[in-house]
Amino acid sequence: MKEIQFITPEVQDAPEFLKYLKTVCADTLFLRMYPDEIFYTVSDEEVFIRKMTTEKNNRIIVAKVAGRIVGSGTIEGSSLQKFLHRGELGVSVLKEYWGRGIGKELMTQLLSWARENRSLKKINLHVNVENEIAVKLYKKLGFMFEGKLRNDFYYENRFVDTYLMGIDV
Ligand SMILES: CC(C)(COP(=O)(O)OP(=O)(O)OC[C@H]1O[C@@H](n2cnc3c(N)ncnc32)[C@H](O)[C@@H]1OP(=O)(O)O)[C@@H](O)C(=O)NCCC(=O)NCCS
Repeated sequence: MKEIQFITPEVQDAPEFLKYLKTVCADTLFLRMYPDEIFYTVSDEEVFIRKMTTEKNNRIIVAKVAGRIVGSGTIEGSSLQKFLHRGELGVSVLKEYWGRGIGKELMTQLLSWARENRSLKKINLHVNVENEIAVKLYKKLGFMFEGKLRNDFYYENRFVDTYLMGIDV
């Protein structure tokens, strides 16, 4: 397999990042949006990448194979004083690359960055209860269950709950 690079994206990656978002949202029901609900523009993605790479409580890492983004992980902090200590983590990988260690590596790099960060003390995430692979991965990395949002998702004519998970860093 071609080499996988884990890098901080640059503003010039915005078009590729938008393409990635649309593909990964078509790959799974476990992400929040359907691909046809993604109305972001390249310029929105430029703003997002800039925000995620310049603000001290934010971090974004992408996995690239031959210049193509195949995975992405983010921690988004807050600028509100009461919440400066916490970040929300999100991770995704293109379906064709599942099971090759990319999700785990993105998570590991994000958590190690969070542990070095001076203000972050706690990382939270939301995960669909049916997303067994993700839940197992989060538990293995030390995340604990903190609660459940009932009927949070609705798809395929049914409601599905979301777990809230967290880890101290
Ligand atoms: C959850 C997700 C990010 C995992 O990424 P990934 O690159 O496939 O995961 P990895 O290859 O790093 O595997 C992580 C663990 O899951 C296990 N795993 C991966 N795919 C698996 C599969 N199909 N069946 C069983 N276990 C699997 C791996 O063996 C590994 O466990 P280990 O550490 O014990 O070996 C990926 O499946 C994904 O993007 N899903 C859709 C988006 C999503 O659900 N994001 C999370 C929203 S909260």
